[in-house]
Amino acid sequence: MRAWRKSVGHVTLVPTMGFLHDGHMSLVRRAKAEGGKVAVSIFVNPTQFGPTEDLSTYPRNESRDLDMLRDAGVDAVFIPDVADVYDPNAQTIVETTELAKVLIGKLRPGHFRGVATVVTKLFNIIRPDAAVFGEKDYQQLAVIRTMVRDLDMDVKIIGGPIMREADGLAMSSRNVRLSPEDRAAAPVLARALNEAAAMAPTGVTASRLRSHVRATLEAEPRAQVQSVDIRDAETLETISGPLTRPAVILLAVKFGQVFLIDNRVVYPKEQA
Ligand code: PAJ
Repeated sequence: MRAWRKSVGHVTLVPTMGFLHDGHMSLVRRAKAEGGKVAVSIFVNPTQFGPTEDLSTYPRNESRDLDMLRDAGVDAVFIPDVADVYDPNAQTIVETTELAKVLIGKLRPGHFRGVATVVTKLFNIIRPDAAVFGEKDYQQLAVIRTMVRDLDMDVKIIGGPIMREADGLAMSSRNVRLSPEDRAAAPVLARALNEAAAMAPTGVTASRLRSHVRATLEAEPRAQVQSVDIRDAETLETISGPLTRPAVILLAVKFGQVFLIDNRVVYPKEQA
């Protein structure tokens, strides 16, 4: 990896956990637009899964992933084993103190510690000049931007927009685990976010917007709503009054055992 890295010049990394879909491939296309070489990592990172989460059932299909990456003209693929990444005697972690405790961090304690640690390790192993992350995982992108700033990491962080299925469902490796009935019900997330985006410029308060979104989700009996949050789109601070700046609505909903997230940035009147 070191020798390859020295010879190739500018590198943009797209970190993934595999089972690739067009959301991942859109990040690859964004990475190619940077010029230079594109590297993709595929690593189902055990440290970001909680003890009762879906590590063992996380979908995998390495040969299909490699075909997709080859067709997309990716220059390098890094697929390490767990033992290559984690020394059993390791004692060092990377933790974003406040941001990682809220939202998904509250639902999945320790999740962002695992993400921040593995992304740091991937950056140190591959030494990319830039790295692309999806806005689908809005808080993850915020955690990584914060980490890179706080720890003076010399990597340009690029966000890519959420790619969706035709019916609005945000693409996710986990979607294949939805039962047909749950798959049919899951577009309620996108529907709730679209309604909220339409309401936002009417001068509605964040609390009112939040109750509307929650009611839309709860009207779908298959949806187990985990959280609905409205936060400042930039700082992720909570807001309850009228929207004065762009806000992000963040959803976490379970269908059966499958944990889905989605989000959308909405704008008050002046910026709509
Ligand atoms: P994974 O879930 O495989 O996602 C890899 C990247 O693809 C992330 O940056 C994610 O935000 C992005 N992505 C997923 N679905 C998307 C969609 N529908 N549209 C656009 N981008 C999408 O996120 C992870 O892996 C891991 O936490 C990782 C960063 C690799 C660290 O282990």
